[in-house]
Amino acid sequence: MSRAPIAAFRGLGVAVPSQVVTNDDLSKSLDTSDQWIVERTGIRERRVARADESLTQLTTEASRMALARAGMSAAELDAIVVATVTPDRRMPSQACDLQAALGANRAAAFDIIAACPGFVFAAGVAEGLIASGSYKNVLILGAERLSTITDWQDRSTAVLFGDGAGAAVLTPATGDGRGILSTYLKSDGRLAELLYIPAGGGMNPLTAENVNDRGQYMKMAGREVFKAAVRAMGEACDEALRRAGVTAEEIELFVPHQANLRIIEATAKHSNIPMSKVMVNVERYGNTSAASIPLALAQAEEEGRLKPGMLILLVAFGAGFTWGATVVRW
Ligand code: ACO
Repeated sequence: MSRAPIAAFRGLGVAVPSQVVTNDDLSKSLDTSDQWIVERTGIRERRVARADESLTQLTTEASRMALARAGMSAAELDAIVVATVTPDRRMPSQACDLQAALGANRAAAFDIIAACPGFVFAAGVAEGLIASGSYKNVLILGAERLSTITDWQDRSTAVLFGDGAGAAVLTPATGDGRGILSTYLKSDGRLAELLYIPAGGGMNPLTAENVNDRGQYMKMAGREVFKAAVRAMGEACDEALRRAGVTAEEIELFVPHQANLRIIEATAKHSNIPMSKVMVNVERYGNTSAASIPLALAQAEEEGRLKPGMLILLVAFGAGFTWGATVVRW
């Protein structure tokens, strides 16, 4: 059953590190090739933060852009929700460091860990905060420095990931029809070991031994993740469309998580959405996890493919496993 939107997107902002790492660059230190990476993933290059480029810097830049576009000052924010698996430090949250950098002194600030669909989860959290009536202006971010948890000696994962940050301001819907029409969020923790980091948590703290075994980096069963991603993203699209009471044919722009061109194509095919309506920029940034959807949205806006009032579908899948989709009247 469709319903009137509660929360609407008001401004987008993005930031990526300046350093571009191409497939050929990776081929110098890994047994891989531009041809293999392009054929299997669609990725041509990614951004990698330098050691002194923090996630706080990237999220601050993205947030300032989003706030400017929303015509809002940081002091007007009621909440900041950062979706990330790569905060600058384990305590306090990335959101608190961002809050301090922005001077958003009225806001409640906290992180959520939902991996690649983090931006979709954050939008759902923001919608809930706004629905409560106690919060009006909510800044959400999907932001990652995946380069810090990528094993640069493992060709099966190193070629896939990149760094970046995306931000959006959400405010109460104004009754013009624009806003979030449906949200579908799902997880299955039983499949955690297919994509995870073995060491560094409370149960397996970092030691010289597990660092030597490279346990601080992401481990992934690529083929299993691929299959699960296609299945779950298809299901999420179906459910978000059903909840919004709209059909796939009505979707004007489809913005899937940018992990792998083959996953994107399979998901679009499942939902009967032609590739002409699909936003793809995986070739430029690789998989930036929670940042991937806002980076794709911002590029679509820049290219004139995303305009106010358009009906769009966002979908993502990632570690957890977690997955989710949302239908938005932009
Ligand atoms: N360069 C060259 N060869 C490689 C590389 C590489 N970078 N990586 C793996 N290979 C080799 C393998 O060793 C294997 O060789 P073998 O046949 O001699 O054993 C061969 O290529 C095929 O490997 P597969 O893993 O079966 O290749 P596949 O076609 O499944 O592609 C990939 C691998 C790209 C990782 C794919 O499984 C995938 O994209 N999975 C989803 C991963 C993902 O996106 N995870 C991110 C989080 S979840 C999400 O965001 C959706």
